[in-house]
Amino acid sequence: MSFLTDLFAKKKEESVLGIDIGSSSLKVVQLRKKQGQVVLETYGELALGPYGGAEVGQAMNLSAEQVTETLKDLIREAKVTTKNCGVSIPFARSLLTLVELPYRKNPKEQKTIIELEARKYIPVPISEVQLDWFIVPEETPSESAAPRDKVSVLIVAVHNDELKFLQSVVAGAHLAASFYEIEIFSTIRAAIDEPVKPVMVLDIGAASTKTYVVEHGVVALSHTISAGGQDITRAIAVSSNVSLARAEALKKEEGLGTSPASDSPELVFSRIFSEARRVLIQYETAHKKSITAIVLTGGGGVTKALDAYAKSIFSIDVRIANPFAKTEAPAFMRPVLEGIGPEFAVAVGLALRKLQEV
Ligand SMILES: Nc1ncnc2c1ncn2[C@@H]1O[C@H](COP(=O)(O)OP(=O)(O)OP(=O)(O)O)[C@@H](O)[C@H]1O
Ligand SMILES: [Mg+2]
Repeated sequence: MSFLTDLFAKKKEESVLGIDIGSSSLKVVQLRKKQGQVVLETYGELALGPYGGAEVGQAMNLSAEQVTETLKDLIREAKVTTKNCGVSIPFARSLLTLVELPYRKNPKEQKTIIELEARKYIPVPISEVQLDWFIVPEETPSESAAPRDKVSVLIVAVHNDELKFLQSVVAGAHLAASFYEIEIFSTIRAAIDEPVKPVMVLDIGAASTKTYVVEHGVVALSHTISAGGQDITRAIAVSSNVSLARAEALKKEEGLGTSPASDSPELVFSRIFSEARRVLIQYETAHKKSITAIVLTGGGGVTKALDAYAKSIFSIDVRIANPFAKTEAPAFMRPVLEGIGPEFAVAVGLALRKLQEV
């Protein structure tokens, strides 16, 4: 083997790939560490709709074979050069619960309690799921305070069938995944800079919007709102009497603009935001503290003029996720990357975790 091919092999080895299998599209982001910096090598997105006889932007329920075909096409089109990847698990296919359990000083005893108690919260036999959990860090423990008798534990479970589905897609596309991660955790890594203060994330996808409160890097509350980008497209198609494909294009051109087609986005977003506001108030009331910011992400987060509209509803700081800010890329690409960033938050977060491995 020549020196050159050796070098090339090493370079390939260091590149990592994040793969986000969303309900309406697949996204990939390839990163590499170079002199301590995280370099963006390539990224790409491919809509699932056309692979199942539907339009771009619609949520799909495809077979593993169809998803594999899409992923292979995407890897080719985006010129991905590595097989080393991490893959997202849809929030909808996972179970996340925050529970209070008795505290034990001995970590082994604590583990036993958690794993026994977790069974109560999982609606299927424990052998059918992969179980994981995190202990929420104690808040400003003071020396004078009474010794703790409870711990908050975030219990996470994913059904084996879902993992089998994802594993068969990865194997079919000739890739090697070292982890599967619930998409929320990937987004947090990519899009949240101040993990301590409570912030609320709104991931506006195709069929649904995931909303969750993140505090100390932990998901304190999560909720799914059953409205997303495809509802806007459908509403525009009906109100403007155009095809879904035309409505999808109009939506992207206009956003929350001023043309007649932009009434529909506002109607759908007002529904999403009012439900999110209820979640926000529920959290603030129960925890007696304020949420400091809203982070908008997902394809819906790309909508033109959405931040101003969100600010008017929530009256707190609203930010659009900018996950590519955590990567190095040519300056001329910055505006593009900022524009599409919210769509790629999950894929960037996965690639960032994968980079920590190499
Ligand atoms: N520029 C844009 N303006 C408005 N909406 C957009 C824009 N770009 C994408 N969208 C919409 O975002 C939606 C897809 O978002 P996203 O890619 O985050 O969904 P997904 O990850 O496939 O879904 P989920 O996360 O719910 O599984 C589609 O409805 C699409 O029309
Ligand atoms: Mg998504």
